[in-house]
Amino acid sequence: MKNILITGGAGFIGSNFVLEILENKLDYKVIVLDSLTYAGNLESLKSVENSPQFVFYKGDIGDKELVLKILKSESIEQIVHFAAESHVDRSIKNPGVFLQTNVMGTFNLLQCAKEFWKAEDYSQKRFLHVSTDEVYGSLGETGLFTEDSSYQPNSPYSASKASSDHIVRSYFHTYQFPVITTNCSNNYGPLQFPEKLIPLMIHNILEKKPLPIYGEGKNIRDWLYVRDHCRGILKVLEKGRLGETYNIGGHNEWKNIDIVNLLCSIMDKKLHRAEGESAKQITYVTDRLGHDMRYAIDASKIEKELGWTPDETFETGIEKTIQWYLDEKDWLKNVTSGDYQNYYQSMYGDKK
Ligand code: NAD
Ligand code: TYD
Repeated sequence: MKNILITGGAGFIGSNFVLEILENKLDYKVIVLDSLTYAGNLESLKSVENSPQFVFYKGDIGDKELVLKILKSESIEQIVHFAAESHVDRSIKNPGVFLQTNVMGTFNLLQCAKEFWKAEDYSQKRFLHVSTDEVYGSLGETGLFTEDSSYQPNSPYSASKASSDHIVRSYFHTYQFPVITTNCSNNYGPLQFPEKLIPLMIHNILEKKPLPIYGEGKNIRDWLYVRDHCRGILKVLEKGRLGETYNIGGHNEWKNIDIVNLLCSIMDKKLHRAEGESAKQITYVTDRLGHDMRYAIDASKIEKELGWTPDETFETGIEKTIQWYLDEKDWLKNVTSGDYQNYYQSMYGDKK
């Protein structure tokens, strides 16, 4: 059994990754390090909290002493690094914490692992850095991001992720440190905090609140079901080549307004509301500053080299996602009980 450190394991993708490992009884002991920001919630890990294969540490990835202590006491052999500040709108309002966590936090993790792992054992070690397609900037109407696309990050969030990608890359080229980076498109699925597009809309439809569409709603994102992303990361962890980057995406482009209309129509049926009722709440609001127009991933490298393809179609994935939020209203209540209302009031006034 390998000892794997999962940073950000109480967040959206990180918790799904922990569950993917433990539900499928994969051969890992899972050690989670998470500082439990607004985006991290132990509720998400409740089903595995008593597993002998699971340990949780509350703490900051930037805390050198703590990270070194965990690496040593848990004999960590692999690290999958999810912990980050991850929401573009927050990065526009408050970029400092993005640099602190995403850049300096990643640097600290790398440095600690380099201090702890011995160079002669690198072949058995892995530092998998989880990143985003947003580092490549914005696409026009055609074209796809490949692993060779140039980095042109446009938001403080994507710039901080791009910086961390570069630092990770430099550790391979300079020290032959055993890193691999994945760049994934937009994820959706259970356990996502209701501030990103899909869970926010599901939450607001349930609450009969306005559904804020930035600009004209024509921006395009390429959506991937979160567990497909997790299975892709596992493939890369097991079979990916050191020093390489792998794009992960589901060939699933949608205009924002079309997604919101789809959610409204599925949820009207599930909630026994009149057809068209929820869509009446669609509200066009001021566009996001520097709003990227289109993201779309060419995932042929991971498909051909590692044999990964998504299991879910958008129809099956979105159905599972909506049903999960309907079944887990307590989770939604729990994660929105703290500072959530104040946050949205301060960001958007009465628009949300
Ligand atoms: P999230 O915001 O849901 O979760 C982030 C987690 O990191 C939270 O549990 C939070 O408590 C923790 N965290 C934040 N700062 C920390 C710190 N300083 N020390 C320790 N823990 C800290 O994010 P997510 O959507 O699950 O994204 C996970 C990773 O995947 C991020 O690196 C993100 O850039 C990347 N990514 C996300 C998407 C997406 O669509 N959500 C797509 C591609 C890549
Ligand atoms: P988001 O989920 O924040 O992901 P990202 O910006 O990282 O791709 O946003 C997805 C798209 O939805 C993006 O084009 C912005 C748009 N959007 C809205 O129109 N309204 C909203 O309330 C939110 C959160 C996003």
